[in-house]
Amino acid sequence: MKVGFIGAAHLAQTYSKHLLRSGHSVILSNRRGPETLAGLIESLGPRASAAPVEVATEADVVVLALPWTQLQSLQQKGIDWNGRIVVDATNALLTYAPDFRRADLGSRTSSEIVADMLPGARIVKALNTLYFKVLERDPSEAGGRRVMFICSDDGEAKKIVASILSSTGFCPIDLGGLAEGGRIQQFGAPLAGPNLLAL
Ligand SMILES: NC(=O)c1ccc[n+]([C@@H]2O[C@H](COP(=O)([O-])OP(=O)(O)OC[C@H]3O[C@@H](n4cnc5c(N)ncnc54)[C@H](OP(=O)(O)O)[C@@H]3O)[C@@H](O)[C@H]2O)c1
Repeated sequence: MKVGFIGAAHLAQTYSKHLLRSGHSVILSNRRGPETLAGLIESLGPRASAAPVEVATEADVVVLALPWTQLQSLQQKGIDWNGRIVVDATNALLTYAPDFRRADLGSRTSSEIVADMLPGARIVKALNTLYFKVLERDPSEAGGRRVMFICSDDGEAKKIVASILSSTGFCPIDLGGLAEGGRIQQFGAPLAGPNLLAL
């Protein structure tokens, strides 16, 4: 699989390494442009490349790995999201450490809001629950596999993302749709943060 990342920082770099180790290819993109990622791409090896955001969205699967506060910028790029499988790895935060101020989501989950922002995209919520320093570890530990929660309203897209997660050594656990799954997996919810192993 070719996986495109929008964002090329902690989360994107960390999961890219798992993907590359497992035989996938990655395209990283950021706000400042692909030339700023040259050193990183060299260190990641030949199956990694850098491209503008619009090109990264043409991969088989796209991962949103940018700040929540920047999501709106994607709406201004004229990207056709229809049918694209998009993994929402964002956490709905207005600020990071030390205060971690949460965005006001009203009664909805953050990925339902993302789905509205990217019309036609097949949104799968995943990769948001583990701190990158936990994510970077070998997913096989103590005879088990590290758990990765996943939810989506699109069963086929969820299956494809789950198979990618499995191929990189994680144990996907399906929490249902974006409303019910999102509510227990998004930032501040009980399943965001715990580092669990499926034995
Ligand atoms: N860090 C973690 O442990 C962790 C864990 C789970 C989930 N998450 C979530 O994953 C997302 C990424 O987190 P992060 O810590 O890796 O990095 P981050 O600090 O949230 O994001 C920085 C990255 O996003 C890029 N970016 C910013 N605005 C952009 C835009 N308008 N268009 C394209 N790219 C843009 C930046 O590019 P430039 O450098 O060019 O500005 C940079 O590569 C966040 O939503 C975060 O909440 C993070």
